Amino acid sequence: MKILLIGATGQLGGDLLRNNPGHEIVAPARSQLDLQDVGQIEKAVRNAGPDVVINCAAFHNVPLCEEQPEKAFFINCFAVGRLAGFCREHDARLVTFSTDYVFGGEKRTPYVESDPPHPLQIYGITRAAGEYAAIAAAPEHAVIVRTCGLYGRSGAASKGGNFVDKRVDDAKRAKRLEMACDQTISPTSTDDLSRAVFRLISHQGVAGGIYHLVNEGQCTWFEFTKAIYEELGIDIEVVPVDRKGMSGQMRRPLYSVLGNDAARAIGITLPSWRDALCRYLKENHAS
Ligand SMILES: NC(=O)c1ccc[n+]([C@@H]2O[C@H](COP(=O)([O-])OP(=O)(O)OC[C@H]3O[C@@H](n4cnc5c(N)ncnc54)[C@H](OP(=O)(O)O)[C@@H]3O)[C@@H](O)[C@H]2O)c1
Repeated sequence: MKILLIGATGQLGGDLLRNNPGHEIVAPARSQLDLQDVGQIEKAVRNAGPDVVINCAAFHNVPLCEEQPEKAFFINCFAVGRLAGFCREHDARLVTFSTDYVFGGEKRTPYVESDPPHPLQIYGITRAAGEYAAIAAAPEHAVIVRTCGLYGRSGAASKGGNFVDKRVDDAKRAKRLEMACDQTISPTSTDDLSRAVFRLISHQGVAGGIYHLVNEGQCTWFEFTKAIYEELGIDIEVVPVDRKGMSGQMRRPLYSVLGNDAARAIGITLPSWRDALCRYLKENHAS
C-alpha cells in the first residue's frame, strides 16, 4: 500500500514509521505540507497518489485552542474536511485522528462510537466539527480514529514532551508531586496505537466511519502517575488533587474513557494501559 503520512514527526507519526509492516510511506515535512495551506494539501495528495492518507497532525494544545479559535477551527476542522474531499477525488482512503475530548464526561462507562459528542471547550468543538467535516466530504473514504492520553517515544513536541517522560523527570527534582484525580481516562501508547492503525487499514471490512482505539482499562492521571513510579520503583509522594475538571475557566471532561467496540467487532484489540506502560518504561527508562 502507498501511504501519505501527515504529522510524521509527532508521537504517533514516529511510531507509524517505526512499526510500518512494509508499506511505501511518503512523509512530507511540515514545511512541505502545512494543514494551514489548502493548496499544499491538494498538491501533496495529487503528487503522492496514495492508497491511504494518514493524518496525525492537529492543533491540540487545549488551552491554546481557547486563545486561537480561528487557527484551531482551520486545522482541526476546515483542513480535515478539505483533505477528506481531496482523498475522495483521488480515490484514497483517509485515516484521521480525533479525541476523547469530543465527549462531555457525563457517563461512567466507556464511551462507544455511537455516543453523541458533547464537547466542553473550543478544542473539543473543533475536533467534533472536524469529524463531521471529514464524514460529510467523504463518507465512504474517511475513517475517524478517536484516541486518548497518548504517549510515545517521539514525545509530543507541541506539549513539551510526553506525560510519562515528564513524570520521570519530575522525580529527579521533587519528593512530592500533586496530580489530578478528577479526570478518568484511557492512557494509550502510540506504539500499540500505531500497530492497531495498520491492522485497521489492512482490514477488508473497514469502510468510512468512527473507531475508538485506546489501550484497555481506565485510570485517573493520579493513578497513572502512581503506576509510573511503582513500575520504576521510585519513592515519591503523589498527592491527589481534585480540580473538578476545571483548568481556569475551561472545562475538561471528568470521564472520557473510550470503548474500542467497533474495532473489537472486527477482531482488533489493544493491550491494557498498564501492560503498555510497563513496556514503554522498560524500553525507554530502564536504569
Ligand atoms: N497526544 C494526546 O494525548 C492525544 C489525545 C487524543 C488524541 N490525540 C490526537 O492523535 C493525533 C496524534 O497525536 P500526537 O500526540 O502524535 O501529536 P504530536 O506528537 O503533537 O504530533 C503532531 C504532528 O502534527 C504536525 N503538525 C502540527 N501542526 C501541523 C500543521 N499545521 N500542518 C502539518 N503538520 C502539523 C507536527 O509537526 P511538527 O513536528 O512540525 O510540530 C507533528 O508531526 C492528533 O490528531 C492528536 O490530536 C492526541
